[in-house]
Amino acid sequence: MNSQISAIGVYAPSTIIPNDWFADKIETNNEWIISRTGIKERRFSEPDEFTSDLCIKAVKNLLAENPGINLDGVDFIVVGTTSADQVMPSMATRIQNYFNLPNTGCIDIMAACAGFVYGLVLAKGLIAAGTHKKVLVLGAEALSKFTDFTDRTSCILFGDGAGVALVEPSDKSKIFNCVTGSDGAYGKDLYLSQHASVVNNEEIVANGKIHQNGKVVFKWAVRTMSQKINELLAINHLTLEQLDWVILHSANLRIIEAVASEIGAPLDKMLTSIEFFGNTSSASIPLAWDIATKSGKIKPGNKILLLGFGGGLTYAGVVVEA
Ligand code: COA
Repeated sequence: MNSQISAIGVYAPSTIIPNDWFADKIETNNEWIISRTGIKERRFSEPDEFTSDLCIKAVKNLLAENPGINLDGVDFIVVGTTSADQVMPSMATRIQNYFNLPNTGCIDIMAACAGFVYGLVLAKGLIAAGTHKKVLVLGAEALSKFTDFTDRTSCILFGDGAGVALVEPSDKSKIFNCVTGSDGAYGKDLYLSQHASVVNNEEIVANGKIHQNGKVVFKWAVRTMSQKINELLAINHLTLEQLDWVILHSANLRIIEAVASEIGAPLDKMLTSIEFFGNTSSASIPLAWDIATKSGKIKPGNKILLLGFGGGLTYAGVVVEA
């Protein structure tokens, strides 16, 4: 059974945090942040607004902006997140309960910034197996709740947001071949700690906040994502020219520029959400998709390469038709 993305919806909290917000909290400035990351602003959720709330608002927006779409028959919900309200119950069950969807399988997956694409890969597999027919795939994060605002090398990066895709069977295949992979040896280079204070037998800071070794992640991301884009093109029998768009996880504009240069892609083929939302982890790819759709860039029939990467380190990529 073939599958397609029938609709996309997003939500970002209303509070805009410009770069200047950090100026009296840490030693930084607007020029440094823009030149090193491309970020102009990001959104932070309210103190009583959590990842499940962002998920529900993204689904509501999907329904409001796609009049032909409803949730009747949704039989599986998968939420990619590393910033859930709580580990249990899952964010997926919160959505199931809010929209009163009976007989719906629900899971959250922890694949960091690759979570949304991992969700698409799972949804494609469930539909191909014939066991499910209507899958909601979300990437949603309230990273501001887990940000160490004393660490100037990381706190300026993160933002909050959510995105959802409805995946359904289709006559023609519109979710093509995928790649998934990981390199757990880099576990301590990007982590959000809980109880344990070791990763791979190495000490980490167990304070419930996000920590990263920015330089290591940067280099890994440029090297690995360039390879994976070429691999995705090869397994889908496509050339770069036949692709309309590339949506790489918006971690840092300089990573996206370096990958574009490495694979020989013009920068205007790369769709991003980093400028206005910062690094929203699993939400960054649907946010970029939404911006590009609303600005008239993405059109029905366009071929788009999606590639997420993040803590683990892990990655997942797929080519889809809009
Ligand atoms: N404001 C001003 N100066 C800052 C700063 C800030 N917010 N953060 C760091 N600096 C300083 C550093 O202390 C350093 O000063 P020094 O030269 O005196 O030691 C200088 O700026 C350069 O720091 P460096 O770490 O080399 O910057 P960078 O160009 O590597 O950028 C990141 C730092 C974090 C933006 C970058 O490494 C990055 O984005 N990495 C990838 C992170 C990522 O993608 N994570 C998520 C993956 S899903």
